[in-house]
Amino acid sequence: MTETFRDAWQQALYGPGGFYRRERPSAHFRTSVHASALFGQAIARLAGQLGLDAVVDIAAGSGELGKVLRAEGLTVVDIELDDQLPERLTGLVIANEWLDNVPCEVVEWDEDGVPRYLAADLTPGDVVDGNDLDWLREWWPGDPGDRAEVGRARDEAWQDVMRRLADGAVAIAIDYGHLKSTRPPYGTLTGFRSGRECSPDPDGSCDITAHVALDSLGGTIVSQRDALRALGVSGSRPSLELAQTEPLRYLSELSSAGEAAELLDPSGLGGFGWVWTATDAATVRRASRALSA
Ligand SMILES: C[S@@+](CC[C@H](N)C(=O)[O-])C[C@H]1O[C@@H](n2cnc3c(N)ncnc32)[C@H](O)[C@@H]1O
Repeated sequence: MTETFRDAWQQALYGPGGFYRRERPSAHFRTSVHASALFGQAIARLAGQLGLDAVVDIAAGSGELGKVLRAEGLTVVDIELDDQLPERLTGLVIANEWLDNVPCEVVEWDEDGVPRYLAADLTPGDVVDGNDLDWLREWWPGDPGDRAEVGRARDEAWQDVMRRLADGAVAIAIDYGHLKSTRPPYGTLTGFRSGRECSPDPDGSCDITAHVALDSLGGTIVSQRDALRALGVSGSRPSLELAQTEPLRYLSELSSAGEAAELLDPSGLGGFGWVWTATDAATVRRASRALSA
């Protein structure tokens, strides 16, 4: 098979001199951990409710989440490129905006309705077959002219995490994504450079990302908005009265409310999906209680 876009994407982000070998994520885009410490504090509360005192942060970037969690008294293991995942994962396992950066095949249906892999220059090449074709049939059927990202590589990456989960542990993948009922007909492949969306050129000059097919990962899905609200994050503004009586507290609560609103915004970070898994029934019950509004 000729080189596909996925091969080029892999090299561009993670090959020698690749984008993530050089760059700090916060210089190019804003994730929940950059937006506010309220995000990490909510994760710390979740760990507390689950009776867990350790967090594994997969795809930790520059470790901003770990900083907040350590300040909340938790033990944190950051996992980044080239780190091995522990054979057994215990505690609370978080992967914030990891899977959207796991390179996957990009395909387009030709005029006869046959899906074809796209090459590095996004032109159609070989016919899709095997497990990729099975995945498309089950999760992302398309019509002539449609484009899709085959989520199999993300499913496999996440299954590798789930396979390692110990009893009592909870794993949560947090990402922007879609469900079978709402797949975007032309996919979501795009690039980011210095805070701006750009063409996803696989030359190492930019981040390359595509939304995650959240439902194919296997897990329970809750929106970030609902999860964070269940964990006590509120975008309510302080009363104006407080401005008179305690102006400094008013300003601090106002700023917190602004940050919370960004994390909860249903058309932004609040629209992200939290896909969670636990292996034993007692932990499933506990996580379900903690993450339901
Ligand atoms: C979008 S950034 C997210 C960083 C951080 N979690 C945040 O929320 O700001 C994606 C990160 O995933 C890391 N990454 C990609 N593949 C990985 C892998 N197999 N193991 C560990 N980290 C990985 C990249 O190096 C990059 O730092």
